[in-house]
Amino acid sequence: MTPPAIPFQFHDLAGRTLVITGVTRGIGRALLPGLLAQGLNLIAVSRGREKLAAIRQELGMDESRLRFFECDLADPAAVEATGRAIASSGLPVDGILHNAAIDPRHEFAKAAPAPWDLVWQVNLKSAVTLTQWVLPQLRRSAQGRIVFTGSIVSELGGSYMTAYASSKGALVGLTHSLAHELQGTGVTVNCILPGAIQVEKEAGTVEAENVLAGWQSVTRRLTANDLLGPLCLLLSQAGGGISGQCLTVDGGVMHPLMSRDVQRARLLVDGYA
Ligand SMILES: NC(=O)c1ccc[n+]([C@@H]2O[C@H](COP(=O)([O-])OP(=O)(O)OC[C@H]3O[C@@H](n4cnc5c(N)ncnc54)[C@H](OP(=O)(O)O)[C@@H]3O)[C@@H](O)[C@H]2O)c1
Repeated sequence: MTPPAIPFQFHDLAGRTLVITGVTRGIGRALLPGLLAQGLNLIAVSRGREKLAAIRQELGMDESRLRFFECDLADPAAVEATGRAIASSGLPVDGILHNAAIDPRHEFAKAAPAPWDLVWQVNLKSAVTLTQWVLPQLRRSAQGRIVFTGSIVSELGGSYMTAYASSKGALVGLTHSLAHELQGTGVTVNCILPGAIQVEKEAGTVEAENVLAGWQSVTRRLTANDLLGPLCLLLSQAGGGISGQCLTVDGGVMHPLMSRDVQRARLLVDGYA
């Protein structure tokens, strides 16, 4: 899951400070070495003091490179307090990546226990609150960057994922509108829409893995490393002309009708094969 040696370097990221949420596992954890290798200093907002201490030890980083603000993003008061703490820390903030999210499956028709409030708090509202707190620091930065993490699920839909999909769709609207509102400030706002990214919580069979890869034009499972380059581009000067955009990183997911099997069948039916 850990990205391999980084074959690229965005030199202007060195010495800049990025706030990143949700680093204990999955994509957030896997991005850490690659972001640190770019020379970024990281402020990680996550929960689980022991887990965070273990991560610092694994990465061999001191506080100047990797600082933790322990926070349960499901708790609005804790998010406020963390935002305030980062804002008053005296630290610069050049960018913020909202990575943390939850995606519990639930049936829409069932009234309870529906996770709407929790999902919207963790996936959307915590991102809004933290961004509001660090905005003055971002404005002071020579290249302030806000990056939300959406999902292709908000575009494609997904049964039992209505709360998750709608929270991710809301981030897309937020991206477009906030980019407009921050016109002229030098702060860009973008959203990365990952497709199926391999993370450790998955317990997929080889068959399931092949189905997932088979939906993509790029027929291998994507990893966090596939998000690293696009993310660094958005954070860097090189990406300074990109704002209000959604960048899909899904290996070129195909509509089922465009899958190889269906296309082959259509060629047969149409008499081309
Ligand atoms: N993996 C994919 O295929 C995929 C596809 C599309 C979009 N995405 C998006 O990519 C991002 C990362 O996904 P992932 O697959 O890496 O998810 P993951 O493996 O479930 O990791 C989620 C991270 O968010 C943190 N988090 C969750 N609830 C939290 C809370 N209340 N307070 C603090 N931290 C919390 C988790 O920390 P704890 O350990 O404390 O729970 C963990 O570090 C998410 O925004 C997700 O929607 C992922």
